[in-house]
Amino acid sequence: MTAVVKKAIFPVAGLGTRFLPATKANPKEMLPVVDKPLIQYAAEEAEAAGITELIFVTGRSKNSIIDHFDKAYELEAELEKKQKDQMLEIVRNILPPNISCIYIRQPEPLGLGHAILCAKPVIDNEPFAILLADDLIDGKEKGCLSQMVDVFDRYNSGVIAVERVPQEDTDKYGIVEVQNLEGKLSRIKSIVEKPDPSEAPSNLAVVGRYILPPIIMDILEKTGKGAGGEIQLTDAIATLLQKKEVHAWEFEGTRYDCGSKLGYLQATVEYALKHPELKGDFEHYLTTFADCLKNTA
Ligand code: G1P
Repeated sequence: MTAVVKKAIFPVAGLGTRFLPATKANPKEMLPVVDKPLIQYAAEEAEAAGITELIFVTGRSKNSIIDHFDKAYELEAELEKKQKDQMLEIVRNILPPNISCIYIRQPEPLGLGHAILCAKPVIDNEPFAILLADDLIDGKEKGCLSQMVDVFDRYNSGVIAVERVPQEDTDKYGIVEVQNLEGKLSRIKSIVEKPDPSEAPSNLAVVGRYILPPIIMDILEKTGKGAGGEIQLTDAIATLLQKKEVHAWEFEGTRYDCGSKLGYLQATVEYALKHPELKGDFEHYLTTFADCLKNTA
């Protein structure tokens, strides 16, 4: 019988240096895209894929993530008193009642692989998902992780979300070499962390969504420092490939690299254009502003 993916790890201990000074005291995962923090988009994507346990691997200055998913008694009482029902609904529905949260501290920033390993005590012998919240993915019909759970259910194997990137950007990502199976699905032959464009085996980049078997934890325990002097998840996956099949899924949808300022701005504009309250006014503003830019060019 195929195992069910119920747990997801959210590594949120990263320093967010690309967004300083905004991220000096605030976690980058709490940056809002329109009116929702990045971490909430990721949590919603996980819930939609059937995840019921959210495991956050946090660090210093990350307590507002814990507060965000906690009950806010005073705020709820105030909104109730003022009969702001819509707002109350928004605040209460941040997490559905069947979802539980676990918080683990990563004491030192030793890399993504190390962050995942910090969650080993709560993973047991089950496959689990990993979501990197700064990769915001608009999955259109179906969330990216839900698409990956479909692949997992079919093959009972690890699945990694990938997309094509410009060749000159391979040194920003984990890069996979694959054998295509059908359409968007491939079998991963090799994986390497942030290769130089001249050495990259392809331009198929790992984006921040993974489903992995629990044995990856044992592998991570034995994985030494890799690229950037950090313990890399990619290196552990490379070892996993010697024992088990892992699939690459070219997800359907759009990814916004919200760890970069440009990606973050693109996400903000595109999500605002779809936001029920804003879309009309914002589209009007954007078209007027674009005309202005054209006229001054
Ligand atoms: C991490 C992973 C990398 C992956 C990327 C996706 O890198 O190490 O393999 O391609 O996330 O966003 P980071 O962006 O944390 O440097």
